[in-house]
Amino acid sequence: MMGLKGSGLRSLLICVTLWTGPSSALFGHANRRPNIVLVLTDDLDVLIGGLNPLSKTKKLIGDAGMTFTNAFVASPLCCPSRASILTGKYPHNHHVVNNTLEGNCSSRAWQKSEEPHAFPALLKAYGGYQTFFAGKYLNQYGRADAGGVEHVPPGWSYWFALERNSKYYNYTMSVNGKPQKHGADYSRDYLTDVLANVSLDFLQYKSSYQPFFMMVSTPAPHSPWTAAPQYQDRFNTTKAPRDPNFNIHGANKHWLIRQAKTPMTNSSVQFLDEAFRKRWQTLLSVDDLVEKIVKKLEVRGELDNTYIFFTSDNGYHTGQFSLPLDKRQLYEFDIKVPLMVRGPNIKPNQTSQMLVANIDLGPTILDIAGYNVNKTQMDGMSFLPIMEGRLNSSGWRSDILVEYEGEGSEVSDPACPLLGPGVSECFPDCVCEDSYNNTYACVRTVAPSADLQYCEFDDNEVFVEVYNVTADPYQLTNIAKTIDQEVLEKMNHRLMMLQSCSGQTCRTPGVYDPRYKFDPRQLFPPHSWRPSRLSQRMK
Ligand SMILES: *[C@@H]1O[C@H](CO)[C@@H](O)[C@H](O)[C@H]1NC(C)=O
Ligand SMILES: *[C@@H]1O[C@H](CO)[C@@H](O)[C@H](O)[C@H]1NC(C)=O
Ligand SMILES: *[C@@H]1O[C@H](CO)[C@@H](O)[C@H](O)[C@H]1NC(C)=O
Ligand SMILES: *[C@@H]1O[C@H](CO)[C@@H](O)[C@H](O)[C@H]1NC(C)=O
Ligand SMILES: *[C@@H]1O[C@H](CO)[C@@H](O)[C@H](O)[C@H]1NC(C)=O
Ligand SMILES: *[C@@H]1O[C@H](CO)[C@@H](O)[C@H](O)[C@H]1NC(C)=O
Ligand SMILES: *[C@@H]1O[C@H](CO)[C@@H](O)[C@H](O)[C@H]1NC(C)=O
Ligand SMILES: *[C@@H]1O[C@H](CO)[C@@H](O)[C@H](O)[C@H]1NC(C)=O
Ligand SMILES: *[C@@H]1O[C@H](CO)[C@@H](O)[C@H](O)[C@H]1NC(C)=O
Ligand SMILES: *[C@@H]1O[C@H](CO)[C@@H](O)[C@H](O)[C@H]1NC(C)=O
Ligand SMILES: *[C@@H]1O[C@H](CO)[C@@H](O)[C@H](O)[C@H]1NC(C)=O
Repeated sequence: MMGLKGSGLRSLLICVTLWTGPSSALFGHANRRPNIVLVLTDDLDVLIGGLNPLSKTKKLIGDAGMTFTNAFVASPLCCPSRASILTGKYPHNHHVVNNTLEGNCSSRAWQKSEEPHAFPALLKAYGGYQTFFAGKYLNQYGRADAGGVEHVPPGWSYWFALERNSKYYNYTMSVNGKPQKHGADYSRDYLTDVLANVSLDFLQYKSSYQPFFMMVSTPAPHSPWTAAPQYQDRFNTTKAPRDPNFNIHGANKHWLIRQAKTPMTNSSVQFLDEAFRKRWQTLLSVDDLVEKIVKKLEVRGELDNTYIFFTSDNGYHTGQFSLPLDKRQLYEFDIKVPLMVRGPNIKPNQTSQMLVANIDLGPTILDIAGYNVNKTQMDGMSFLPIMEGRLNSSGWRSDILVEYEGEGSEVSDPACPLLGPGVSECFPDCVCEDSYNNTYACVRTVAPSADLQYCEFDDNEVFVEVYNVTADPYQLTNIAKTIDQEVLEKMNHRLMMLQSCSGQTCRTPGVYDPRYKFDPRQLFPPHSWRPSRLSQRMK
């Protein structure tokens, strides 16, 4: 697809032209409200060097605004995380539990119960914003048994979405509900560049009478890590970082980590180093995309009135605790993500250590648009006051919830039949990255007096992991057995509260919040997890 000649783009733009008239009449004052851009990457870590290749992005967004050093996801996996971004809810409230249709990833149930209340729908219906989407949506989007690419989620004025999961070539886009196939010609089909081009066209031809919300969601740096031709020899001596948690045995950790072979095989190490380089190469095109969007806004005189968010759906690991490569784990490398924001009223070159999460993106964006977030069912909270310097840690939350439901079926992983059922992602060299009993929930605490993580597993051992991130940033030592019993009980109580929270009750004071009052009478029976699904089935 090339610029305006592409048939898909033409239909997007016809749409733009048709929309200009009526919208200006309906939203007379709307043009004074700020525009909002959200760039969402896929699998981009912040702790193992992921921002390194993104020098222009760091300069144009981070240095021009605020960089958050404690930004987390509510679930370290694409589909549940993306659902949290769109709905502003924790997984237990949006019910997207994994990347499959059965796990509600873009399922009919999701389309019926959650999608209509996603923040872009509120922006468009009640805020008078024109809304534009380009890129990867939810992993199962476009499945024939869930409406196909004809399904355009409510809330989007212009819809340019990838069918299914991340790709760079040979894919199908839904262009406002019509399929558009792409081949493997760099100058026409390289997806990161296609997204950049269609985004620039939107900025060029959109209505100038309404503010806009634009979400650009790159498949990079997700596998299959296909770089643009001009970047394929870059970083050719780079290796994954050999941090203190690289290639060591997580002996005091949960079952899945304990089963990882240590040290990793040489072929695993080679594989992960190669993947690491390719991930960085794909990011160079993302860096170009960000630069093009910022430059375009500047040329059009709209940059000063536009907020730009840059983030990711989950972190990533390459060799940590001898897991070759993936996400899905409770550790910092998988749950912490980059987050940089620039915009009107955000002073440049700021760093914030405040605890924010992906469930806060929707509330923050709605707040920017002037929409009262209290009217929604969202679990997150607006961090706009933090960015504008109106709020410090004494008025902010001290903990968030992380939830993950492990994947792994009753049939063996075909890559490693010998390991039996219940495990998955056993690649390369039969090291499994997931299992049905890698099902956990954590409280992640960040307060002036504590930087802690408390997690419980839904497995046969009802395993508990606790880390003091202040003392142990690489999470080498699980202190569950040595930590003060009273702290442990409070954290357990807090976890139970958060796992059953909804809306306002998700925003109550945490254990390390001065306002918190611990009432032992409210203590839920410890470890009241439901029995795991597979153990029931296998009985
Ligand atoms: C899928 O979502 C629907 C609607 O929210 C919910 O009733 C159902 O329990 C969810 N399924 C799973 C597996 O969580
Ligand atoms: C794209 O599809 C063509 C035709 O099936 C195939 O030859 C080519 O290898 C594919 N390229 C990529 C990058 O997937
Ligand atoms: C993007 O647009 C530029 C400028 O028109 C063009 O040279 C390039 O081939 C386009 N890339 C893709 C992938 O469409
Ligand atoms: C690495 O890339 C540079 C150019 O960027 C090239 O000159 C050099 O030969 C490459 N080295 C290897 C080992 O491929
Ligand atoms: C694996 O790599 C190490 C370090 O490079 C080397 O010493 C060792 O001989 C290699 N082992 C095999 C089996 O190739
Ligand atoms: C931000 O900091 C960098 C590095 O210290 C500096 O080069 C840049 O000029 C600063 N930007 C602004 C907008 O103050
Ligand atoms: C939203 O609710 C909070 C807590 O109840 C309250 O402090 C705040 O003023 C409300 N905001 C608006 C815009 O109503
Ligand atoms: C935080 O903000 C409150 C209310 O504005 C103020 O009273 C307090 O002094 C501030 N604390 C710090 C550490 O800046
Ligand atoms: C995804 O979740 C659903 C609902 O819990 C479950 O039936 C399905 O087996 C899960 N998929 C995988 C791959 O674990
Ligand atoms: C987790 O599941 C695997 C695969 O079924 C099983 O071998 C292992 O014993 C289980 N571990 C725990 C702690 O539940
Ligand atoms: C965590 O470690 C810090 C630094 O060593 C220490 O001051 C603090 O008391 C520890 N917190 C807990 C809960 O163990």
